[in-house]
Amino acid sequence: MQGLGGVHGKTKQKSDLLNILQIKKLCKNRMRLIKTLSVFVFTFTLLSGLPFIDVTNFRAYFQIRRTAGLHNNLAKFYQVWNDSITSGTNDHRKARKVVLWTQFFGKPYEIKRLTCPSLKSCIFTTDRKQVKDADAVVFHFWDTPKVYNRSFMPRIRLPHQYWIWYAKESPENNRYVDLISYSGIYNWTMTYRNDSDVPGPPGSLYKSYNLLKKGRIKENSTEKKGTVVWFVSKCYKFFHRHIYAKELSKHIKIDVFGGCGRRVCSRTNGTCMSATIQQYKFYLAFESYRCKEYITEKFWHNALVNGVVPIVIGPPKSDYEKFTPPNSFIHVDDFESPESLARYIKMLDKNDDLYNRFFIWRTNPPKAIPKIPGQWCVLCEKLFNTSPTENKVYTDLERWWKGENYEFCQPLVLKENIFDGLNLVHYD
Ligand SMILES: *[C@@H]1O[C@H](CO)[C@@H](O)[C@H](O)[C@H]1NC(C)=O
Ligand SMILES: *[C@@H]1O[C@H](CO)[C@@H](O)[C@H](O)[C@H]1NC(C)=O
Ligand SMILES: *[C@@H]1O[C@H](CO)[C@@H](O)[C@H](O)[C@H]1NC(C)=O
Ligand SMILES: *[C@@H]1O[C@H](CO)[C@@H](O)[C@H](O)[C@H]1NC(C)=O
Ligand SMILES: *[C@@H]1O[C@H](CO)[C@@H](O)[C@H](O)[C@H]1NC(C)=O
Ligand SMILES: *[C@@H]1O[C@H](CO)[C@@H](O)[C@H](O)[C@H]1NC(C)=O
Repeated sequence: MQGLGGVHGKTKQKSDLLNILQIKKLCKNRMRLIKTLSVFVFTFTLLSGLPFIDVTNFRAYFQIRRTAGLHNNLAKFYQVWNDSITSGTNDHRKARKVVLWTQFFGKPYEIKRLTCPSLKSCIFTTDRKQVKDADAVVFHFWDTPKVYNRSFMPRIRLPHQYWIWYAKESPENNRYVDLISYSGIYNWTMTYRNDSDVPGPPGSLYKSYNLLKKGRIKENSTEKKGTVVWFVSKCYKFFHRHIYAKELSKHIKIDVFGGCGRRVCSRTNGTCMSATIQQYKFYLAFESYRCKEYITEKFWHNALVNGVVPIVIGPPKSDYEKFTPPNSFIHVDDFESPESLARYIKMLDKNDDLYNRFFIWRTNPPKAIPKIPGQWCVLCEKLFNTSPTENKVYTDLERWWKGENYEFCQPLVLKENIFDGLNLVHYD
């Protein structure tokens, strides 16, 4: 076994380590302050019994921990090594077989929907019996046992077979699962995060400019019926987004639809939702959880495709800047308080030139847009392109996913069950 950090040389590792130690120290002090402030704010919130936040503390409260991402470079969460004996195949004419071992959110996969040109050379099946000659086996996180259970997994594990951990949601969505019990089980990860072995973000520059070319992105307009709109159906009142939105709504009118607001569309009618959103200038693309790189359909589909400017709560601004079109959004972290954000929105609402600047990206594509194929294509291609001697295993999936010090997600105030019908917020 060659072990840790196959990507970096030893000297690079050392200097990285020094840098990280220094940065860590700085961050620690800052984190202590932020933590103290958060604890103060939440104690206050709990005592007052209402999702009330001292607005002067919004900035500290919403700051995500800046250490995110640094530790991953050391790759200490997995091991990569080469075997001298080849058990897999190099044959590019032979199709690769992928068995989907679990269901997908409690339902069978719709294999028909996995399409892309390169997939012709991969066979996808839900037939568990075929695991005996599969090149890869996919386990959808949500549909696996909460604690590792050997008898849930395939009985026989072929040495060249990749066991793939597939997650669609953020670490916070699935925080009750004991990932430590899954240490040393999975070979590859397949998530929305870019540092996954098989990355698959729900949107990208590549996809956005393609949709634009095909005319599938709604034209921008300053002639709209309303200003701020939001569709939201998970109403746990301690979500960061609700704490923020409640305060924001004191300073600007927000039309809230869905389970936490007025019901104008049936849950399944996407056309109705799109048509409604398009009548506004701004959409609150507020993620339920603030996690590293967790930018979902709320941003890409609900806001961007509908020709509406996303106002975002989610990962740090730098993550949005890395992955989304330049100057296409408004991040709440740029404002001292919801009140100052409200003032900014009102100003843009009156100034068509400034508002339209959020759409300049459409006619100014960056010079090089990295091609990002669909996630199943990436998987198929990787099965062909990975050397059959190469092995990998996630020895610490828990920390790879959540951060070495659990810094990848900003914690919520949690009650036993956040969907138990208590602690819900509603907007009129
Ligand atoms: C394993 O071998 C392949 C092919 O020779 C090489 O590309 C890769 O970098 C090697 N990986 C490690 C961890 O040494
Ligand atoms: C482990 O999984 C098997 C098969 O799915 C199941 O019958 C068994 O009850 C599980 N054991 C535990 C402890 O959950
Ligand atoms: C995503 O990861 C790839 C491969 O490591 C890297 O080349 C690319 O720059 C990353 N993309 C972004 C937007 O950071
Ligand atoms: C969806 O909503 C639109 C109105 O926006 C309506 O015309 C259409 O009939 C609805 N479709 C269904 C299936 O309910
Ligand atoms: C849409 O935005 C672009 C880029 O700023 C602007 O040139 C154009 O006039 C806008 N279209 C409308 C209809 O306002
Ligand atoms: C996958 O992980 C297992 C368990 O650690 C390991 O024995 C095997 O060599 C790995 N296989 C590949 C192809 O990486």
